[in-house]
Amino acid sequence: MTPELEKRIRSSFDESASDEEHFPSTIDPRIYHVQLILETFGDLAERRVLDAGCGKGRFAKVLKERHPGARVVGLDISEAMLSYVPAEIQRCSASLTSLPFSSDAFDAAYATESLEHAVAIDLAVAELCRVVKPGGRIVIIDKNAEHWGKLKTPEWERWFNRKELEKLLGRHCRQVSSRFISYWEDVEPDGMFLAWIAEK
Ligand SMILES: C[S@@+](CC[C@H](N)C(=O)[O-])C[C@H]1O[C@@H](n2cnc3c(N)ncnc32)[C@H](O)[C@@H]1O
Repeated sequence: MTPELEKRIRSSFDESASDEEHFPSTIDPRIYHVQLILETFGDLAERRVLDAGCGKGRFAKVLKERHPGARVVGLDISEAMLSYVPAEIQRCSASLTSLPFSSDAFDAAYATESLEHAVAIDLAVAELCRVVKPGGRIVIIDKNAEHWGKLKTPEWERWFNRKELEKLLGRHCRQVSSRFISYWEDVEPDGMFLAWIAEK
């Protein structure tokens, strides 16, 4: 990604941060996207968890509430988004494509609707996997490329095919799976959202 494009993406999210309707700072913990992350990670006491592209930290907030002993780090490219992240979550201003952490620094990491903005997707996936310890879990939730066009998107956004991200994660992880998900566990997925789950 060129520095100009990175700047444009950052400014766009900085400007959108006050738009609470489209970029909410809270999420109903019963929503399956949250439940899937909680179920996949299990007990997080004393564990270090990365929310990559955390926005206002709505997922990180639930994780911290459920697991007060976890050390949760929220990373985002937009300082304005980060300003909404609650104080009990460590904030980090950086790009998904160049994570300022040593390798194996986290027990688990997740990215919800943020990888779609990373432009250099293979690099961002490699970085996400690099910072997780062997045996640690990674969850990516994003939109399905087969539904591309159904929503208004900025020109840099990308949605993913199931196999495409499985392949990228498979370069770094020993176990990878994916599945369609909906907001509510008892509602049949409409195919818009996919979750990829990997174990390094
Ligand atoms: C649609 S929001 C999702 C936020 C959050 N994950 C959530 O579900 O509430 C996308 C977020 O990704 C961030 N983002 C976009 N490109 C990024 C990059 N290269 N590195 C880090 N964060 C990025 C944006 O600033 C924005 O906060």
